[in-house]
Amino acid sequence: MRKEFATALSRIIQGEEPDKASLIILLSARPGEEEEALYREADNFRARYVGEEVHLRGVIEFSNHCRRLCHYCGLRADNRRLRRYRMEKEEILKSARMAVELGYGTVVLQSGEDTWYSAEMLAELVATIKGMGLAVTLCVGERSREEYALWREAGADRYLLKHETANPRLYHRLHPGMSWEERITCLQWLRELGYQVGSGNIVGLPGQTLEDLADDLLLLRKLRVEMAGIGPFIPHPDTPLGSYPAGSLELTYRVLAVARLVLPWAHLPATTAVGTLSPNGRQLALQRGANVVMPNLTPRKYRGDYQIYPGKICVNEEPADCRYCLEGMIHSLGRRIGRGPGHALRPLTEN
Ligand code: SAM
Ligand code: SF4
Ligand code: FES
Repeated sequence: MRKEFATALSRIIQGEEPDKASLIILLSARPGEEEEALYREADNFRARYVGEEVHLRGVIEFSNHCRRLCHYCGLRADNRRLRRYRMEKEEILKSARMAVELGYGTVVLQSGEDTWYSAEMLAELVATIKGMGLAVTLCVGERSREEYALWREAGADRYLLKHETANPRLYHRLHPGMSWEERITCLQWLRELGYQVGSGNIVGLPGQTLEDLADDLLLLRKLRVEMAGIGPFIPHPDTPLGSYPAGSLELTYRVLAVARLVLPWAHLPATTAVGTLSPNGRQLALQRGANVVMPNLTPRKYRGDYQIYPGKICVNEEPADCRYCLEGMIHSLGRRIGRGPGHALRPLTEN
């Protein structure tokens, strides 16, 4: 093991404020001893700070319409090959009831940026789902502060808005017509409104460097996020980035493991994207810092059309299949399924 690696790791474990140079050293952990030590410490932190429970957040992908043009995403407005759908209110509620039946404490309402659903419609949905005893996470992109406030008043607990990359230049290149600064402003509004805030980044975007990834981690820490979604880039053939290689799975694990060390209390999902790149991807992520899994609750007839990237897992499964699959996975790791809503444990004032 390189001396500088051992030093960077032991400083972070002792709770020193992370600096960019040490994060870059940790992110460049070499296969073998260095990676093993990093993963071991991330798993220790996970056990110490968030425990043995793995929280299940059922995701309802209720619309694949999107007004944006993100260069990596198959839902982008310009993708004419995608069959578009919108779930009716009753269908969404039926999926939420399925979450109750399957014992999930949270539903995540996720969609493209689809303003067909008015703020009032979504507020009503949130309130009805809250009435079922579930926690609600919204993941519907950028909206006004007033809309975020309305949903919060309706009972929404959490909001997931990934910053995608902390490098504003890279962000602007990949998100035509969008602004990095506005994205960060949205995250600040969500925090002010009392949401548990989730953000996160994509690993392996074309043109991204280790420095950018270190900045992602520093930004997540600065934003004091309660949750961070960290997943690899997967190319979609019908997008401008279709011919670029996928992000490296090993690098994604390293970013996840370092994220656990810099955000010890955060909820970190074993993402569907790591499960898509490797059959045991989510198991490994759960052993390298992750403590959340997000099973799909979208009705089967729509699943194949929520194609943010190709080859997404669980497209042919029913919600109950995923429930039992995950139970087996979690128990095989010696862990247990989280009970209740699985809110963040960390007091808001703490770092
Ligand atoms: N439209 C909302 C938004 O962008 O915040 C929420 C839904 S969007 C599909 C959820 C996430 O999918 C994005 O935050 C992005 O990180 C991820 N994503 C989209 N395309 C991807 C790709 N090709 N590879 C990896 N992640 C991707
Ligand atoms: Fe739309 Fe979200 Fe995909 Fe961007 S990442 S195109 S906002 S669904
Ligand atoms: Fe869907 Fe395993 S989680 S089949």
